[in-house]
Amino acid sequence: MITHLLTDHTGVEVIGVDLTTPMNDEIKSELIAAFHRHLVLVIRDQILDPQQMLDAVRLFGEVFTQHNKRFSLTNCPQIHYLSNEDHYADGNRYIPGAGYHTDHSNAPEPPKATVLFARSLPETGGDTQFVNMYSAYADLSDEVKLKIADLRAVHVYQSRHSVRKLMVLTESDNKNVPNSVVHPLVRTHPETDRKALYINPIRIEAIEGLLEPEALALLDELLTHATQEKYQYRHKWRLGDLVMWDNRCLLHKANDDYDMTQLRYLYRVMLKGDKPI
Ligand SMILES: [Fe+2]
Repeated sequence: MITHLLTDHTGVEVIGVDLTTPMNDEIKSELIAAFHRHLVLVIRDQILDPQQMLDAVRLFGEVFTQHNKRFSLTNCPQIHYLSNEDHYADGNRYIPGAGYHTDHSNAPEPPKATVLFARSLPETGGDTQFVNMYSAYADLSDEVKLKIADLRAVHVYQSRHSVRKLMVLTESDNKNVPNSVVHPLVRTHPETDRKALYINPIRIEAIEGLLEPEALALLDELLTHATQEKYQYRHKWRLGDLVMWDNRCLLHKANDDYDMTQLRYLYRVMLKGDKPI
């Protein structure tokens, strides 16, 4: 196994691992350590069918049930797909993942990790951008850190403040999704014990104890700060990339800057996480 850092703060490329073959404990520990240290693991050159992807991902944790079953693969329902070929009811194209967010933060125990496997990619564009929320938190002024230390945000399936609109849930999916959950704005990572900013412009509806204009101004300020280029790793996809990232200390977004006549199609699995504290 060979690793290369992708930036000096976020992302590591892994070469020479075949996820379809049994992995010894040493390599597994190295991968887990690399994941906790670098937050985005890019495992290159994989050839995986859905079941093989699921088996590989289970090395890192238990599979989390994703909310919108519409995107579930028929032959392997724990895997969902991301595609640029779906449309909203009004006929407009749906681009999953546009706009910075962290996955499924409206769950009481949001997924610790999301894993994507690229099956079909546009010739150019469609990168996934990540920002490091440990660094973003660490660089906040003491004054802001003090201000947000005990604040808690209300997360819902889709915030009414969100610029991006999600696909509507079916009635049966909706039953499995909580109305709202409350999570701290600053969370401590259960594995690394490091503090990270935990915000999500798509899901946060309110901040407890703050009036709406004040809450929105604060969230805007934090998002603008956190999404600066200096905190970013931008992943340019290659076929065969399996990318696993840590939702507890990153935001991510997909880009819609490519030729939409070219298919962008990836498998997605999420892994169970803890209640943010
Ligand atoms: Fe996402």
